[in-house]
Amino acid sequence: MKQIQCRIAGLLMALVAAGMLAACEGQEPEAQKERILPPETGQDEAVKIGFSMDTLKEERWLKDRDLFRQAAEKLGAEVEIAAANGDDALQIAQAEAMIQGGIDVLVIVPHNAEATAAIVHKAHEAGIKVIAYDRLVKNADVDLYVSFDNEQVGELQARAILEAVPKGNYVYIGGAPTDNNVHLIKKGVLNVLQPAIDRGDINIVYDEWTDDWAPENAQHNMAEALRANGNQIDAVIAANDATAGGAIKALAAQGMNGKIPVAGQDAELAAAQRIVAGTQTMTVYKPIQNLTAQVAELAVQLAKGEEIMTSVSVNNGKTEVPSILLAPTAVDAGNLADTVIADGFHSKEEVYQEAKND
Ligand code: BGC
Repeated sequence: MKQIQCRIAGLLMALVAAGMLAACEGQEPEAQKERILPPETGQDEAVKIGFSMDTLKEERWLKDRDLFRQAAEKLGAEVEIAAANGDDALQIAQAEAMIQGGIDVLVIVPHNAEATAAIVHKAHEAGIKVIAYDRLVKNADVDLYVSFDNEQVGELQARAILEAVPKGNYVYIGGAPTDNNVHLIKKGVLNVLQPAIDRGDINIVYDEWTDDWAPENAQHNMAEALRANGNQIDAVIAANDATAGGAIKALAAQGMNGKIPVAGQDAELAAAQRIVAGTQTMTVYKPIQNLTAQVAELAVQLAKGEEIMTSVSVNNGKTEVPSILLAPTAVDAGNLADTVIADGFHSKEEVYQEAKND
């Protein structure tokens, strides 16, 4: 990550397009050339936002969808939403349809960080700006990236588990390798674990990605980790709560659920219930309502050609993308009430109802 003062403005874009100005500190003039003027939107005409989603499989994405629509409508914008069920070709086709249908700005949750670059090019050809939502699009001139600090997500997970298990055999259940967040999360985990690995205190005995983030793949991988190590596993870090749930099922099959610490991410209801039940140690809470509120506002501003300032940029392989990274919070049994429940992310009744032991 690189600190920059970066301005995106209609005026600026006009100057850049005219080849008069290489404006954004820390960016290559080359990358700037492809930036284009945002469409003219009449003052009283509602801004149309396209929200292209990878999936609605995990619980969080339903919140993202509903809260984003609410936040945008509160600002007087219209939202068109499509979810691609993890299908790259479908996500590209859906985004193309939105572009042709006359959206003013595109917000995208990429299924595949690389494949969705094609969507950014298509949107730009039509003069439409693109915000990468939660996940970065790689190798494309993305206009803005808004997410949680994913490296910090991994650090929070590893810190919590290292405190519980300072020495022993760890299993790492990663996410889908096509998702850029997955690599950032793992980097964060290793930032914290590496010194203990180097001392020989921690041994990562199994480390595998989870294709398409599918819980059944995570369960399969965890079963394999247990088998290969004769069940001699002391801790598990899983990239999200869905994969943690899969891993915990594999532990349960060996009578080991609740016996060793497991970390996840998302503060899904099932994970909060597992934390109460003692089968999952922690999760990472990312208040979706903060993300949707920010992105809705920024999308409207971009559509209107207004200026956006960020103090951070993230390199996506092609350019330094102006970025906003929100703070995640580690949640365990000790602070569930003060975080997830206090925010109304889940109700107390839901969390403490019948705790799941899966
Ligand atoms: C998100 C996680 C989510 C995962 C699977 C990641 O990119 O940041 O919150 O659990 O995708 O959908």
